[in-house]
This record gives sequence, structure tokens and C-alpha cells, in this order.
Amino acid sequence: MNLRTQILGVGHYLPEKRLTNADLEKMVETNDQWIVERTGIRERRIAPPEHATSDLATIAATRALSSAGVSPQDLDMIILATASGDHIMPAPACLVQARIGATNCVAFDLSAACSGFVFAASVADKYIKSGTHKRILVIGAETLSRIVNWKDRETCILFGDGAGAAVLGPAQTDSKSEILSEFLLADGTLSDLLTNRAGGSRLPLTHDLLDQGAHLVTMKGRDIFKNAVRTMSKCASHCLEKASMTLDDVHWIIPHQANQRIIEAVAKQMDIPREKIIMNLERTGNTSAASVPVALSEALENKIIKRGDVILITVFGAGLTSGALLLRY
Ligand code: COA
Repeated sequence: MNLRTQILGVGHYLPEKRLTNADLEKMVETNDQWIVERTGIRERRIAPPEHATSDLATIAATRALSSAGVSPQDLDMIILATASGDHIMPAPACLVQARIGATNCVAFDLSAACSGFVFAASVADKYIKSGTHKRILVIGAETLSRIVNWKDRETCILFGDGAGAAVLGPAQTDSKSEILSEFLLADGTLSDLLTNRAGGSRLPLTHDLLDQGAHLVTMKGRDIFKNAVRTMSKCASHCLEKASMTLDDVHWIIPHQANQRIIEAVAKQMDIPREKIIMNLERTGNTSAASVPVALSEALENKIIKRGDVILITVFGAGLTSGALLLRY
């Protein structure tokens, strides 16, 4: 019998503190009009000082488990996608595992930056389809506010903190919900477009590097923009093709919430009607690996997406990585 994977439940968490464009005007030389026109972002959430990525992830995970009706002891695997883990080691996935009391499972991180949730869901899908694992918690969580350069106006306006999670499991024989197809890409030749130069084994932190802020995010925005539009469209098209479906079969598109103009350019290139696009970046900014599961969870909570709807997710991120996931919820 061919096993299929379905999403059993989702959850998300956004920290309470809002950082508005007006707040940013007091921190760097920028203004609300520029930020809204160039990105669509009006505010983003910032985690409190006592919270790190695993704390945000734990809250989202608990909510996803409750929505799925799955107990932590029934989990076989936790995959946490993040670019802003609590430490270089141990993996924050293990910290989440301990905190939720998931005593019978393996836990590990996955590094694909903003594409992380789609990559992690794709890995989980393969384990479930192989029959070896039955309940997998997939999390995208970030506290990017800790690794952003708050003096760099080109990057600090973009990012926010948050976490989203989904529990995946085998679809019942009579269930229409399933992951229909996936398509993942990476192009390491473009790795310098978005990076934290220092703080790893390439450039271990020194006082000088720290003073330069070399451990913080640096980005070539225009190049990223062009690549994002190209790869998000390409991955989405391949994903549809693999499932022998067209955009007419799709109820909702959830693109990575990086920049409204990027999303509009993808929509134009692929001829996607605006009303099919889920967008929350105005309130969240770019929460990297958390962006897609937060948008999905919010859309379910607000009863925009319903069981049976076909959803096309398309993402890109540092690496450069990109990917798409097509599913019937
Ligand atoms: N406020 C005001 N002016 C700003 C600014 C800010 N926050 N940031 C940059 N500018 C200025 C630039 O210095 C430049 O000035 P100049 O013309 O005098 O040199 C001007 O605005 C235009 O800059 P440019 O870089 O061409 O703007 P842009 O239209 O490409 O928009 C980004 C910049 C970053 C918003 C856009 O390139 C982008 O979103 N790229 C993708 C980034 C991304 O998604 N990263 C995450 C990947 S997961």
C-alpha cells in the first residue's frame, strides 16, 4: 500500500512586542513611506530578552500538537528549521524535545534559512512515506532580531521574530488531505548574497570582528530580489507539473513572506490572481523559516483556508535555497 502524508495540525506564536516603521525611524535613517513602498512591511514582532528561538518554537509546537490531538510522547521525530538557533550546539530541536517532554523521538535541526520549513516538511514527508516514522513535528522558528544589524537600514527593516509548527503523519485511507508534491533547489555559488560572515568556523569571533558587526546579517538586496522571483516561480511551476496540476486547481498560494514586491513579481510572472495569495508580512516582516507556517496557521485560525483546499507554498532563502510544496489540506 502506498503511504501518503498529511498535516494533522498546525500552530504558531508571535511575540507581543511590535516594532513599527515609526519606531525604526528613530533608530536608522529611514521612513515609513520608503519601507511600505519597497517592502509592504508596517511592523514586525520582537521576542523578549528572556526568549531564544527554542522558546518561541516550544510555544508553536505545543499549539500544533494540541491542534493535531497528538501527545508529545507519540512523536517519532522533531525537525526544527532555523537560522538563528539558541547556540551553535546543541541543536534547539533537542531543547524543544526536552521542554515538551517528547521522550520517544529523535530531534535535529535543519539549515536552509528562509526555505527551512519547506525543506523540513519535505524530509518529514519522506520518512512518513517510508513507513518508519508516524508522527513528525516540523517547526520553523527564528529570533532574527538577535542577528540583525540594527545600524544597517537595508536589512534591519525587513526581519521579525516568530515560530510556526505542523504535525505530519500518515493520511487515513479515506482522507483527501495529503502532500501532493515537492521540489527543492540550492545554488551555493550565490552563498555570499545573504550571510553572517563571522561567528562560525570560517571566521571565529574576535573582538575586532565583533566591533565590526561581522557576525550580523549582511545582504545584497537587489540580487536576492531577482533570484527570489526566478526561483520561487520555477519551484512552484515544477511542483505543479510533478502533481499534474495547474494553478486553476490551487485555492491558495502561500509565498515566503519576504517582500510584497517579490510576491507581486512572482504573481505577475506566473499569472496568479491576487485573491489567491496569502500575505501577512505587513504585520510580521520576514520571519524566515517561520514565515510559511505562521501564515498557514493564521489563515486556518481565521478560517480563510479550510480542510480540502489545495495550497501551493513557494519559498527562497540564504544558501541560496528555494523550494515549493503542494498539498491538499
Ligand atoms: N530607508 C530609506 N532608504 C533606504 C533604505 C531604508 N531602509 N534602505 C536602502 N535605502 C536606499 C539605498 O541606500 C538606495 O539609496 P541610493 O539610491 O541613494 O543609493 C535606495 O534606497 C535604493 O536602494 P535599493 O537597494 O536599490 O532598493 P531596493 O528597491 O532594491 O529595495 C530591498 C531594497 C532590500 C527592500 C530590496 O532589494 C529587497 O527586498 N531585496 C530582497 C531582500 C530579501 O528579501 N532578503 C531576505 C531573503 S530571505
